[in-house]
Amino acid sequence: MSATGTTRQKMPADILAMKGGAPIVCLTAYTTPIAKLVDPHCDLVLVGDSVGMVLHGLPSTLGVTMEMMILHGQAVARGLSNALMVIDMPFGSYEESPAQAFRNAARLMGETGAGAVKLEGGVHMAETIAFLVARGIPVMAHIGLTPQSVNTLGGYKVQGRGEDGARLMADAQAVAEAGAFAVVLEKVPQGLADRITAEVGIPTVGIGAGAGCDGQVLVVDDMLGLFTDFKPKFVKRFGELGRAAEAAVADYAAEVRERSFPATEHSFADEVKK
Ligand code: KIV
Ligand code: NA
Repeated sequence: MSATGTTRQKMPADILAMKGGAPIVCLTAYTTPIAKLVDPHCDLVLVGDSVGMVLHGLPSTLGVTMEMMILHGQAVARGLSNALMVIDMPFGSYEESPAQAFRNAARLMGETGAGAVKLEGGVHMAETIAFLVARGIPVMAHIGLTPQSVNTLGGYKVQGRGEDGARLMADAQAVAEAGAFAVVLEKVPQGLADRITAEVGIPTVGIGAGAGCDGQVLVVDDMLGLFTDFKPKFVKRFGELGRAAEAAVADYAAEVRERSFPATEHSFADEVKK
């Protein structure tokens, strides 16, 4: 509730203010109906570049384009009135230079109405994050397992175990110092995630990073059981919508084949009743 007693859509500052408080609830969305469904329950809705794998059948997020993000972003924006909308910068749209990142971030926000962008990277993206924030673009960072770097990371492995933990701590501190309003920690051991959460001043949003983060995020199709090609260890299926959909389609096919669908109630009479 705002000072005037009316509700308004959340802003990055509202998410930042949740640091250390009630857990921040986040999910992805890629379409208007799912955005409407998750909006009342979430603080933040992410138009993730996971859309490429989840809805377009791509083998990784590397093939996701600006045009795909904008189209899905516009659809999601139409379904949100409560949660902050954050949109992923796709692979190749920001890594080259801060100027390139600004041009594409401004386009993503301007053409979709998103309240912030998310990009992957820690220490090496800090300069770009500061450049964007100084020019009016709120940034959510994403460190740990960064799927756009799957080819250099050598797979979708847990990041920051043992000695490697210092690297992730430095990444988290660098993005916080650069002005990011929150940071996603993906596939990071829970003890390290707890230490990062304790030491950085911005909210940590975990996915496969334990219960100690300031918030949690999941891919909505994963938690609904709609995307079933594979299930990462960090996914919990809160529903089995894929199974339900399969059963419904099988019933439909059977009823069409036995001519029990459509029934009279789904059909139109030749004469209108007086
Ligand atoms: O693209 C995505 O869905 C994400 C979340 C898993 C954090 O980046
Ligand atoms: Na992403």
